[in-house]
Amino acid sequence: MREVDRVISERLNSGVPLVSQVSQYIINAGGKRLRPAILLLVCQALGYGAENRFKLAAVVEFIHTATLLHDDVVDESALRRGRDTANAMFGNAASVLVGDFLYSRAFQMMVEANNMRLLEVLAQATNVIAEGEVLQLMNMHNAELDEAAYLDVIRSKTAKLFEACARVGAILAGAEPSVEEACATYGQALGTAFQIVDDVLDYTGQAKVMGKNLGDDLREGKTTLPLIAAMRLANAQDRSILKTAIESGDISQIQAIVAIVQKTGALAVAQEAAASEARRAIAAIALLPSNDFKACLLQLGLQLLERKA
Ligand code: IPE
Ligand code: IPE
Ligand code: MG
Ligand code: MG
Repeated sequence: MREVDRVISERLNSGVPLVSQVSQYIINAGGKRLRPAILLLVCQALGYGAENRFKLAAVVEFIHTATLLHDDVVDESALRRGRDTANAMFGNAASVLVGDFLYSRAFQMMVEANNMRLLEVLAQATNVIAEGEVLQLMNMHNAELDEAAYLDVIRSKTAKLFEACARVGAILAGAEPSVEEACATYGQALGTAFQIVDDVLDYTGQAKVMGKNLGDDLREGKTTLPLIAAMRLANAQDRSILKTAIESGDISQIQAIVAIVQKTGALAVAQEAAASEARRAIAAIALLPSNDFKACLLQLGLQLLERKA
């Protein structure tokens, strides 16, 4: 991971000062670096240790960072990684444009890897992420949204990149198709669980620990699983409160909403959905050889359910 960070800082170079300033601002704030970690763990679980892996690991972190820069503009978010967001610091225009820089830098680096399969996987993932964000935009303030439509969004906006990370690791390692698919399934299921947990934390977490503000989803009228489950389970009166909040994005009722989400058992429903995806991830890589790297991938599947940040 130290090597990944070295590649990242080396490749953030630009002759335009604002590009480096904004990109360093968000990247130096930290972040879990989960996507590069998954890529590296899959590589090494499959016995691949060549230098090239660090570049691809940096690529997926660049793509992730670009989505965050754009996402915080779209979501009008103020806090990320415990700091003011880049849009709050430098403005929306700079955030969008530096996001474009990071996407295109990632593509320059992918081309250097000189492997058409890798390009195909990462280009497709990047495209699907964009679709997922647009799909979510279309679903805003829709109180009737069901679980299937929610899953569609998160599989695209979040799980697709996790899937690509694991798949790229397998491709680098020259894995046979069945192993590559197993790794891809692991990434997809893990990414889905990761986003569901994130959506639960938006109601139950602590801003200090998460480095992000709570209640952002409700404020945007984003119907995530906790709300979808609560809509299904609540009595008529509470359902009407939820519906009004989703449609208006009025966050003044947040305490009441959280109370309803809690008392209906909706959080437990969401947590169980995440657990089920985590189990699917863990089962998918059963066929990988046993070693410390695989053990770490399995651990990730378990610890993810308990994450607070
Ligand atoms: C945030 O991802 C965006 C989501 C998919 C929820 P992370 O929680 O991995 O963000 P960082 O990189 O650790 O800040
Ligand atoms: C994160 O989505 C961005 C992408 C997955 C592209 P969210 O908007 O749900 O996540 P946070 O809460 O801002 O990190
Ligand atoms: Mg957001
Ligand atoms: Mg968003």
